[in-house]
Amino acid sequence: MNLSVQLAPKNKKGLSLANPVMTASGTFGYGTEYSHLFDIQNLGAIICKGTTLKAREGNPQPRLAETPCGVLNSIGLQNIGVKALIKEKAPIWASWRVPVIVNIVGETIADYAQLAGELDGVAGISGLEVNIGCPNIKAGGAEFGTKPESAAEVTATVKAATSLPVLVKLTPNTADIAEVAKAVAEAGADAISLINTVKGMAVDVAARRPLLGSVSGGLSGPAIKPIALYMVYTVAGAVDVPIIGCGGITTSSDALEFFMAGASAIQVGTANFINPRAPLDILEGIEQFMRKEGIDKLTDLIGAARG
Ligand SMILES: Cc1cc2nc3c(=O)[nH]c(=O)nc-3n(C[C@H](O)[C@H](O)[C@H](O)COP(=O)(O)O)c2cc1C
Repeated sequence: MNLSVQLAPKNKKGLSLANPVMTASGTFGYGTEYSHLFDIQNLGAIICKGTTLKAREGNPQPRLAETPCGVLNSIGLQNIGVKALIKEKAPIWASWRVPVIVNIVGETIADYAQLAGELDGVAGISGLEVNIGCPNIKAGGAEFGTKPESAAEVTATVKAATSLPVLVKLTPNTADIAEVAKAVAEAGADAISLINTVKGMAVDVAARRPLLGSVSGGLSGPAIKPIALYMVYTVAGAVDVPIIGCGGITTSSDALEFFMAGASAIQVGTANFINPRAPLDILEGIEQFMRKEGIDKLTDLIGAARG
């Protein structure tokens, strides 16, 4: 059976994965934390925690709240910063078979340019995933990913600063995700990941206060799967770059739905907190389905549910 996928067909370097199962940013650390639990080299790719120019402590506690079928988080991009990542993590990744993609996030366009430039050519890094679901400080805090223009500007800036394959990760917190997707594809995105978390909140009834330290957070997990799936379906009809589906994927059946809606690969996020082996279980389930259905190539399933 052939489970391989090419996620950056228009990029000189390309981004070839042995299989389509990746881990979602912020839910799998730097990969190193999970390497003693199972053979992470069998994954399609690992996406590391969102990385900023400087190390960040993140938001005030509490930063996690369980909801029915999901989780609200307001971690606030706690991370070690790009310099420490290059010095401490990339050398470890350089010895791995599994490709590692670095998720980057900035507060200004210049931050994104600098991050992409510093990571270009670093051994152990196979691509960048650009998180545009974060506040643009110069534009008064509106998220870069909410408008096609600002989303395209970030994409073009990152593309100009690196030769690495660039995945742009869309936020669902926008009026028209297809318009944003078209804008980032035109600006040169090699692939598009979607979705990031859906904005939400919880109230601590006893304290009569918002439960999360920073009031709102991002909802993830099975609760958002139908939203993510429909957005993948919509975006797959709007652009001709590979799509990476993400949002509530917990079982192989969930993953198959995303492939059939048009995703070429998938990311497993919140499910890692319930079962750290979830990505491998999902991969094995996909293989079982293909064997049972007599499907030789995963690519035959991509978009199968589209008219
Ligand atoms: C605790 C936590 C931290 C996250 N951190 C990041 C991050 O740093 N960068 C990013 O692009 N997405 C981040 N995400 C979003 C996930 O990568 C993913 O897009 C989202 O959770 C939806 O997938 P899921 O329902 O499978 O978790 C985070 C999600 C969670 C739950």
